[in-house]
Amino acid sequence: MSRHTCAIHPSILSADFLRLGEELQAIKTADAVHVDVMDQHFVPNLTFGPPVVKRIQDESPLPLDIHLMIEDPDRWAPEYADMGAYSVTFHAEAATAPIRLARELRARGSKASMALRPATGLDSYMDMLPELDMLLLMTVEPGFGGQAFLDVVVPKIRAARKAIDGSGAQVALQVDGGVTTETIRIAAEAGADTFVAGSSVYGAEDVAVAIENLRREARDAIGH
Ligand code: DX5
Ligand code: ZN
Repeated sequence: MSRHTCAIHPSILSADFLRLGEELQAIKTADAVHVDVMDQHFVPNLTFGPPVVKRIQDESPLPLDIHLMIEDPDRWAPEYADMGAYSVTFHAEAATAPIRLARELRARGSKASMALRPATGLDSYMDMLPELDMLLLMTVEPGFGGQAFLDVVVPKIRAARKAIDGSGAQVALQVDGGVTTETIRIAAEAGADTFVAGSSVYGAEDVAVAIENLRREARDAIGH
């Protein structure tokens, strides 16, 4: 089975927002920083928008993996690509024209990524895999850090892995929500290769050690 090398993306949702600069430096051994943008409409929480993300883009030692939990991403997502973000993820449930939007993101120089909430089915989206660089499967209901991993999503991770391998397209498979040193093994075995972790990284006594532990468990579960 073809598999990307595993990547750890700490989520700054669990960082201390008053010390964002230091909190970004603390995760520099990770592969990218996961930036959760929430609009209090698509999800019942509000974080930050373009001015703050722009500053994170300027200062971050790592590439930005921006997760937009917002309504009307067709309108708002392209400006995040314009900031130079490595990857921009919009939600399938919120997008009016996901194929057009994915193409727009790529045209503006970022990776195009689409997220599915835990109860959103894969089937209607599998034909558009070649339009995507990453598929994000939420393993909690989006909105808050610190929730428990939803095992119910595991069959969907397996199905997505199969579809990606079958498509021949290079699409990373990301999981987000409740990722710990235990649940990362479950997700990795099911076929995920990119792992977001908020509270299990920033809640740890040593952030760098937490990243290394997650990486080790994921690699071990994948078998390389
Ligand atoms: C939740 C966000 C996640 C969040 C994950 O809606 O999309 O990125 O930070 O936090 P943990 O790892 O604590 O579940
Ligand atoms: Zn997220």
